[in-house]
Amino acid sequence: MKKEVKRIALLTGGGDCSGLNAVIRSIVKSAILKYDLEVIGFKGGYHGLYTDDYIKLDLAAVSGIFHQGGTILKMSNKDNLFNYKMKDENGKVIYKDVSDVAVENLKKHNIDALIIIGGDGTLTSARDFARKGVNVVGIPKTIDNDVPATEITFGYRTALDHIMLSLDALHTTAFSHDRVMILEVMGRNAGWLALEGGIAGSADVILIPEVPYDINSITKTIFDRYNRGSRFTIICISEGAKPADGKVTIKAIDKDSPDSIKLGGVGEVLRMQLDKVVKPVTGQDIRVTNLGYIQRGGVTNAFDRVLGTKYGAYALDMVVAQEFGRMVIIKNDRMDSVRIEEVVGSGAIGQTSSGGARIVNPHGDLVNSARAIGITFGD
Ligand code: F6P
Repeated sequence: MKKEVKRIALLTGGGDCSGLNAVIRSIVKSAILKYDLEVIGFKGGYHGLYTDDYIKLDLAAVSGIFHQGGTILKMSNKDNLFNYKMKDENGKVIYKDVSDVAVENLKKHNIDALIIIGGDGTLTSARDFARKGVNVVGIPKTIDNDVPATEITFGYRTALDHIMLSLDALHTTAFSHDRVMILEVMGRNAGWLALEGGIAGSADVILIPEVPYDINSITKTIFDRYNRGSRFTIICISEGAKPADGKVTIKAIDKDSPDSIKLGGVGEVLRMQLDKVVKPVTGQDIRVTNLGYIQRGGVTNAFDRVLGTKYGAYALDMVVAQEFGRMVIIKNDRMDSVRIEEVVGSGAIGQTSSGGARIVNPHGDLVNSARAIGITFGD
């Protein structure tokens, strides 16, 4: 007979996004109020699980956090306990499997199940802990909304609001100075943020990884607009966008991160290209704004508060039903789950640059509606 679940733990890993606190609150409230369970939270992702750094999560601990972005548990995307970076007695950097220490810590606290909220790197370790016999339930998170098994991830809609409001702000200053304004947004290899944020924020040009761009097509849009009296142009570009004859722009390589390739800077690359061809003709200045981490922070919007609540509460139902080794998803607008084994490890849940993510269909409804209202994709 299966052992009844009485005490659970959770942790948040990878990069943050809005809605994480909503998930934590939902897990804790549901655990205590619906199922009468005890909850602890390991701090700083897997690092806390290794060092046994934890807090008790009672109702008071989750009071007042619902609207806040980020995570009260903190997180890290550098602590793979199966290949943990440490120094030996001579100070030399070595990598060691310290996962047994984590398993011992879980035993010490009588943890019957561990809920792991994170991206591909974090959930790959979740899979590996499940293989070691730990009772694991996973919850995917990303602002990029590119997890193939699920229809929507929390954090995405809040990030869209940031993009929309930024584009609204750029409109007034672009209009006042007759400028071309470029807004670079996140999303890795999926263009959802640039696409939906760009439509909502009324961008004239949207550049996404799924539709490689041609600089001549972009300049034609700028000149056409200028000639008909619209002396400003707003461009929303995804960090993963690339020219038809070129490559993605890489900001940095971080070897300690499961996703070592850090994208960024394509907005500036585009600005330099446009500067050469637009300025001599129309005299317009080209300016670039990189929205960056603002997209991941701030006040969580209504949609993500509700979505986070659904993800958390369903994870608890799974824990109590002992559906372990699985990840919560939304399918046909209903809560469901898939085996973690099926979705992690190859960039499949969208947290690595190696592909496998749920990307934009360049011939789908969203792109078609944008084209119908005159938005250019630079192709
Ligand atoms: O996947 C979420 C995301 O915010 C991407 O859109 C972005 O490229 C990346 O994380 C940034 O990650 P980091 O926190 O490692 O800089």
